[in-house]
Amino acid sequence: MKKIWLCITLAVGVGWLSTVGCKKDTISPDSEEPIAFSVPVGWPAPSYTFANNKLTQDGFTLGRKLFYDGRLSRDNSVSCGSCHQQFSGFAHLDHPISHGINNLLGTRNTPGLSNMAWHPAFFWDGGVNNLESQPINPIENHVEMDMTLPEIITRLNTDADYKKRFKAAFGDETINSQRIFKALAQFMGAMVSADSKYDRYVKGEAEFTDQEKTGLTVFRQKCGGCHAEPLFSDFSYRNNGLLPDPLVNDTGRAHITREVTDKYKFRVPPLRNVAVTKPYMHDGRITTLEAAVERYRSGIFASPTLDPALTGGITMTDADKQAIVSFLHTLTDTAFLHDARFAEPK
Ligand code: HEC
Ligand code: HEC
Repeated sequence: MKKIWLCITLAVGVGWLSTVGCKKDTISPDSEEPIAFSVPVGWPAPSYTFANNKLTQDGFTLGRKLFYDGRLSRDNSVSCGSCHQQFSGFAHLDHPISHGINNLLGTRNTPGLSNMAWHPAFFWDGGVNNLESQPINPIENHVEMDMTLPEIITRLNTDADYKKRFKAAFGDETINSQRIFKALAQFMGAMVSADSKYDRYVKGEAEFTDQEKTGLTVFRQKCGGCHAEPLFSDFSYRNNGLLPDPLVNDTGRAHITREVTDKYKFRVPPLRNVAVTKPYMHDGRITTLEAAVERYRSGIFASPTLDPALTGGITMTDADKQAIVSFLHTLTDTAFLHDARFAEPK
């Protein structure tokens, strides 16, 4: 009975539903591939399991609508998707540091978003450790969205479509911050990128060129200690030898732990889709992948917290370097970058 009632309520509001009838009680377009979460073969168990936030089609599409909605920012101009752009692996192409409301500048480079369910912590310094509480930071940050949760809830409550979506996702029309966070976590948690050429090569479904094969071998020897497969990060905090910028003096992990020994350490970034997420490093100071790799050979700045693995730089021939760059291109997951389920709804 409840199900039929839901169907009728939804069908009234959403015209297209009348064409699909009441086969399914969800309000996402019928043409879309349903969302699902599964752990790719050979991957570790995720940190975020949806145990207390069951992934549903309606929860996911509500999260997507919120992610792309400028009303989450004070002047309606900045959505999560303004800085996290799908074609750029959900990073911000060509922006060294983030631009938020009124074009105000932050201090850090927008990281790409994928495989968030495996991240034990978030941000370049690991300052937040729960996917569900993470969005409070950009929302309240004065140079990002500069909003408050009560104001967002007031705005969303004036929108009948949102009420319908909260009801479909959570059982009734109540809009509260917990539900907003849960929906966003469903959307981001379901964004899995595991179908790059590299993934298919590992499964024996694609061939690598000789250069890509060499690149993988050299990468495993010289980079894999930190950028560990299959996520291409061990999620530790390390100082990889960037000269600190005296103006910003971002101390990284020490900002959170207050330990001198953590100064200038940053979270090892996962390198999936790295060829499309330029610029690079926590402050976006490096503009090309070639330069990012070259720096490990010729541009390591020694300081007391420099990772011991990088003392004196990494030895590599020009051919090794080129091979690593070719290999890094195999981490681009075109299907993920074009997956309509993660795109801004029309
Ligand atoms: C003004 C640009 C901007 C906006 C708007 C923005 N972000 Fe971000 N996002 C960033 C930056 C910059 C970081 C890195 C911050 C840091 O490390 O201190 C980040 C980090 C993240 C991370 C952590 C990724 C990781 O690998 O650790 C997640 C998740 C995220 N943002 C989701 C969101 C969501 C959800 C919204 C909307 C509620 C949003 N962002 C809005 C720029 C933005
Ligand atoms: C000692 C650990 C360590 C090793 C070894 C290491 N890296 Fe990194 N890498 C890091 C850390 C930490 C960062 C982030 C530094 C920052 O932004 O302050 C990083 C950043 C990067 C980035 C930028 C990614 C982005 O999204 O901005 C690339 C590309 C990269 N590394 C490639 C490599 C390659 C290629 C090698 C081997 C030649 C390598 N790394 C070896 C720790 C390491």
